[in-house]
Amino acid sequence: MARSVTEWVNVTPDISIIARESGQVWFHRASSTKRELDPFAIAMTGNGSAGSTVGLLDGALNLGFSGIEKRLAQPEPTVAGYIVALAGAYHTSVHTPRNLRRAASRFEELGRPEVAAYLEERAREETGHDRLALKDLHALGVPGERLVANFIPEGIKPLCERFDELCAQDYPIGCIGYSYCLERIAALKQKCDIDKVQVLCPDGVDATRFLRSHSCLGSEVTHVEETIKFVASLNASDRIRVVQETYESALIMAEGYNHELLKSEAEMLDELQQAIGQTLPYRPGTYSSLRKEGGARPAA
Ligand SMILES: [Fe+2]
Ligand SMILES: [Fe+2]
Repeated sequence: MARSVTEWVNVTPDISIIARESGQVWFHRASSTKRELDPFAIAMTGNGSAGSTVGLLDGALNLGFSGIEKRLAQPEPTVAGYIVALAGAYHTSVHTPRNLRRAASRFEELGRPEVAAYLEERAREETGHDRLALKDLHALGVPGERLVANFIPEGIKPLCERFDELCAQDYPIGCIGYSYCLERIAALKQKCDIDKVQVLCPDGVDATRFLRSHSCLGSEVTHVEETIKFVASLNASDRIRVVQETYESALIMAEGYNHELLKSEAEMLDELQQAIGQTLPYRPGTYSSLRKEGGARPAA
């Protein structure tokens, strides 16, 4: 009988994630005194399996978010917050196909056509997602192109920079960890999350195209499944690098979340209006009352 696969990755100087094919995952804290007796102090070299690889990837995400879990801002959704999120969605999507193709051609040069083909396919699938965010902004009466040209949410900037850097590296395997982090988090969004946003939108306006496609209702679920399968097929050192980058990206993403969400609706609205040089058809906390009066219907 084949032995069940166990995988492990050291993600911080003293924490390793250990995952079994059966789905069991645990965090292992290295003890300096017993380092020579610690079997997880040495990098893994064996094959992966879908069950253990997803354990490592999701373990890395959980660990990345665990530092801020208690102080994770959870404000009520607002129109201004949603517009900021759409601007962020645009920026995290607009360069994705170009960046992934850059990484793919590097893997072609390195004689790794299977990694190149996977990244090319991802680049194709992600093409046009920035347009979805722009369409949603237009539906809300926001000049999308002008907004994104002048505004990138501060919490999103480091994430975009990280992806640019990863895809430009000599050995750009880490870009798969970054993509996993973003897609897995998106795939956690449920229909009720979309409904909450829909309630904020003017009647008859469809401004949730990006959100739907980047939720459990859209293509993200398949993207996540395909990525897990692909990462599990990689050699051990590539899997280690992908899991470590999933952790690093989760840390950056978690910090960015709080950065934006802790701002008040008025602050966000002010930032947005300055970026587009005009007043938006919303005032903090007033959209629902305006809707009852039949006003504030933005041009769709
Ligand atoms: Fe996307
Ligand atoms: Fe995707």
